[in-house]
Amino acid sequence: MIASEQFLYMVILFTCLLCSTCKKNYTIKPRVVLPEHYVKEIRPPSSKGEPVTVDFSIYIVDINSINVEDMDFRVDMFVRQRWTESRLDMPDDIFEDGDDYVTLPPEFFDNLWQPDPYILNSKVSEIAVLTHKFSSVTLYRNKTVRYAARMHAILACQMEFQLYPMDIQSCPMFIESFSYNNQKLRLRWAEDGVKLNPELKLLQYNVGQPLELMETTGYMVEREANFSRLVMYFRFERQIGHHLIQTFAPSILVVMLSWFSFWIGLDAIPGRVTLLVTSMLTLVTMFTGLKSDIPPVAYVKALDLWMAGCMVFVFAALGEFAVVKVLDVRYQLQKNARVASVPRILPTRIQAVDKKTRCVTAWDVETPGIRCRKPSLSLKSHRFLQLSWLDHKTGEEKILWKEIDRQSRIYFPVFFLLFVVFYWPILLLKKVG
Ligand SMILES: *[C@@H]1O[C@H](CO)[C@@H](O)[C@H](O)[C@H]1NC(C)=O
Ligand SMILES: *[C@@H]1O[C@H](CO)[C@@H](O)[C@H](O)[C@H]1NC(C)=O
Ligand SMILES: *[C@@H]1O[C@H](CO)[C@@H](O)[C@H](O)[C@H]1NC(C)=O
Repeated sequence: MIASEQFLYMVILFTCLLCSTCKKNYTIKPRVVLPEHYVKEIRPPSSKGEPVTVDFSIYIVDINSINVEDMDFRVDMFVRQRWTESRLDMPDDIFEDGDDYVTLPPEFFDNLWQPDPYILNSKVSEIAVLTHKFSSVTLYRNKTVRYAARMHAILACQMEFQLYPMDIQSCPMFIESFSYNNQKLRLRWAEDGVKLNPELKLLQYNVGQPLELMETTGYMVEREANFSRLVMYFRFERQIGHHLIQTFAPSILVVMLSWFSFWIGLDAIPGRVTLLVTSMLTLVTMFTGLKSDIPPVAYVKALDLWMAGCMVFVFAALGEFAVVKVLDVRYQLQKNARVASVPRILPTRIQAVDKKTRCVTAWDVETPGIRCRKPSLSLKSHRFLQLSWLDHKTGEEKILWKEIDRQSRIYFPVFFLLFVVFYWPILLLKKVG
């Protein structure tokens, strides 16, 4: 009696155990949909010579860490692959009422044939994991398999900075099958292709829309075959606003500041020197500060040209100051010499100029007699460079250095304007081209 009761308990316990295990495995029992002789290592059959087609679609959630030092960036995305697996059995009871698909956990995927795409130019690519892989398998009644996964990848991108800070980086993502060549497997963009999260904002860049999608084949030397390849180009267009405010506007102001020296004159030499040297140093500091933004490259960037141009203008203003100062010194010397020689020359009557000795033979009042006077050096050396002259109309004395200052007030801004007018359109044209 007791023995039979015990036996009953044991049977109940056993069925419970069995039931719990069978329940546990029920949902993912592969044999429900996979036929007896299913070999997951073999491609789904397709008509002769036709490659299996895998449709890709990608939803890009986020792009971040565009790293110019390492020339890479990180993408977070949902990747969906879809292909037809004609070997599946689709009994009606696996679908819920009214559905034509059933979603299975990622473990089920291991029982199926899988394409083996990889990202050719990725430094790292991983499927996101929390407690398990963020992925799922969906089977459709028409024997389509859809595998979706949330993944992130760090993609290498060959960046070019010739047009910096107006550069556009075109960064590709190549997806290719690793082991099946283009005779066996074809990758294709699904009709929904690639979608970008509309709320995506990058700090320094605009993401060009729509993304450029391509399907090509690439010959892989190391595997000696052609492979079907999906290409997607991201277009990162740097936003100029930051540099307009941080670099271009201040440097223009500094160059304009240096022009004020043309109005200062030579009465305030320390003021003029301070103004010019400060302008120069400000530009140099600004230039040095910019270098931290992008890594040193071997070629000249558009920004370098701009800064060099600005420096040339300030440097020219400094040079103009030096020239003006020298001319002023000469002019003062000449004036003094003229003042000194006037009382003695006036009473003299120039008689003849001896060509050989280059003497002016003159009749001097103070010391009567014919004397030979050599014209003063400062007078002679500037015969070709008139330090001052009388204006024909007004009869005023014009001084060369003052004229240079006056002309500079016009020519410096005009040339700077020319520089700006040439720089920007050329840069914009190159950017478009
Ligand atoms: C249930 O699944 C586990 C692990 O996958 C396996 O070890 C076990 O044999 C399965 N049980 C049945 C009844 O299929
Ligand atoms: C199978 O059905 C799904 C859902 O209705 C559809 O999106 C897919 O295009 C179908 N596949 C084929 C090969 O007809
Ligand atoms: C790869 O494709 C090119 C042209 O598309 C062809 O010339 C070449 O023979 C192909 N190579 C192989 C191994 O199929």
